[in-house]
Amino acid sequence: MEIIIQPTEADSVDIAARIIARLLREKPNAVLGLATGSTPLRLYRALIAMNLDWSQVTSFNLDEYVGLDPNSPMSYHSFMWANLFDHINIRKDKVNIPDGTAKDIPAFCAEYEEKIKSAGGIDLQVLGIGTEGHIGFNEPTSSLGSRTRIKTLTPQTRRDNARFFDGEDKVPTHVITMGIGTIMEARENLLLAFGANKAHAIAQAVEGPISSINPASILQMHPQAKVCVDAEAASQLTRSEYYKWVYANKPAWQRL
Ligand code: GLP
Repeated sequence: MEIIIQPTEADSVDIAARIIARLLREKPNAVLGLATGSTPLRLYRALIAMNLDWSQVTSFNLDEYVGLDPNSPMSYHSFMWANLFDHINIRKDKVNIPDGTAKDIPAFCAEYEEKIKSAGGIDLQVLGIGTEGHIGFNEPTSSLGSRTRIKTLTPQTRRDNARFFDGEDKVPTHVITMGIGTIMEARENLLLAFGANKAHAIAQAVEGPISSINPASILQMHPQAKVCVDAEAASQLTRSEYYKWVYANKPAWQRL
């Protein structure tokens, strides 16, 4: 794991955007895994401002609420079009987001996995982290080998996401999410976390034991995982000085 601690969210986003921009320049037909929530919003704004060529890019989103029509303003479909896709030249037929209205959810999930495979696998997956350590919507105790499937949200996640709905009781109880095994097959994972309310989850994910209680901790097993955090999200890490030193002293050929 590479832990990149920056003073502010803006500084972290600048690094994350440069990582993605470099990938798109080196591999114009890259396959990107994308996330929703508040965390990637500033990253998406930065990517839009960079005017990159997305015409050959394929994207796969991590998750979607079960039962929400793609046109619902609360759906992750709407979120992605409003905050990224409507502002870049990505092709609609290359955008993939789980369908929360699928009639046969297991069949849909198996197809989603197949699509990722036939696209050549995900080159880089953007991740946020839940306050209890979820990645995608893989809640605590998710199988570390899981594939795309239906999951039930924890009460904490429904509370956390109530701000996007008209109250907690309106937050769907079920979701479709890429599995942890799916995420682990991405060639590179880029986890972003900002703010003090992510500090505990980040400390557990980076310095705690690998455990399904904090699903993000599985990234310790990933050969190319970067964790980009601001000072607040890094505030419960015990080895911050070391991580900062490592980043500041990377060999020239490893720098962005
Ligand atoms: C959301 C998403 C995750 C996201 C996480 C953190 O509900 N399903 O992919 O990373 O929970 O959300 P936020 O960035 O809003 O804190």
